[in-house]
Amino acid sequence: MSKATQSSVKVFSPATVANVACGFDVIGLALDNPGDEMEIRICDRPGVHIAAVEGADLPLEALKNVAGVALQAMLQEYGDASLGMEISIRKLIQPGSGIGSSAASAAGAVAGANILLNGHFSQEALVRFAMEGERLASGAAHADNVAPAIMGGITLVRSYQPLDIIRLHTPPDLWVTVIHPQIEVKTSDAREILKQKVLLKDAIRQWGNVGALVAGLYREDYALISRSLEDVIVEPIRSILIPAFQDLQLKCREAGALGGGISGSGPSVFMLSKGEANARAAADVMEQVYAPLGVDYKIYVSKISTSGVRQIS
Ligand code: HSE
Repeated sequence: MSKATQSSVKVFSPATVANVACGFDVIGLALDNPGDEMEIRICDRPGVHIAAVEGADLPLEALKNVAGVALQAMLQEYGDASLGMEISIRKLIQPGSGIGSSAASAAGAVAGANILLNGHFSQEALVRFAMEGERLASGAAHADNVAPAIMGGITLVRSYQPLDIIRLHTPPDLWVTVIHPQIEVKTSDAREILKQKVLLKDAIRQWGNVGALVAGLYREDYALISRSLEDVIVEPIRSILIPAFQDLQLKCREAGALGGGISGSGPSVFMLSKGEANARAAADVMEQVYAPLGVDYKIYVSKISTSGVRQIS
């Protein structure tokens, strides 16, 4: 245990796209924008305290707040019962958006606190703590949002037990476009509707796509990435919750996007593109598809963030 050398830190914690089409619960990527801003401070009162939440109506009670629960798991393992930390959160990622709002809070809390603890914990341990936040948020301690939020880039969860996370190669020209329809889809509900058994023929197609997507990323083979962005297991069920989903898929590909799918558990939909021009063309198409629907939406165009949670002051 080393003594803290600074008493407060401000971090930026990025939004993330989980699943990335074929990689349900195992592949995720971090975005450059949007992201939450958080301040973590050492305080006199032992334990974890949520000092303030701005931009969303989230609990101030530490054990009901994903950031609080994640930090609590971390301090428990740190083992200094006299240590206290408080968190202030400025939410810029809307809860229930499908771009890793809960993950950003949990990841920002533990990665920020780890700076105050002079990097005592490994990135993998931080992911493990942040997963406790995900357990609180959705009932499932999935890591495909918190891993890229903490480690940056594109990550693959090879195994949950034991936890084994691999940071994959990010082709430099890969861009992401996200549309967030302003309807709420709770991750717990979107998990509830999934079938617990899959057909062998679907599993074969899915793991072929996962392997090929990873190969495509390493080879920087955008055509292979494009062919691999297919989800035959989860998307057919969840896409019914998202207005005009098929139209977005089809028209964005026609406009030059490599392909995409539901971001996390939705309602956001993401597209990957080679280069900024194609990513912006996908954004235009998303706008054309959504404008007539009478559903409010937000669109983000972003590079993949290679850094994950980062200190801003
Ligand atoms: N893999 C998780 C799910 C991500 O799809 O349920 C939730 O953001």
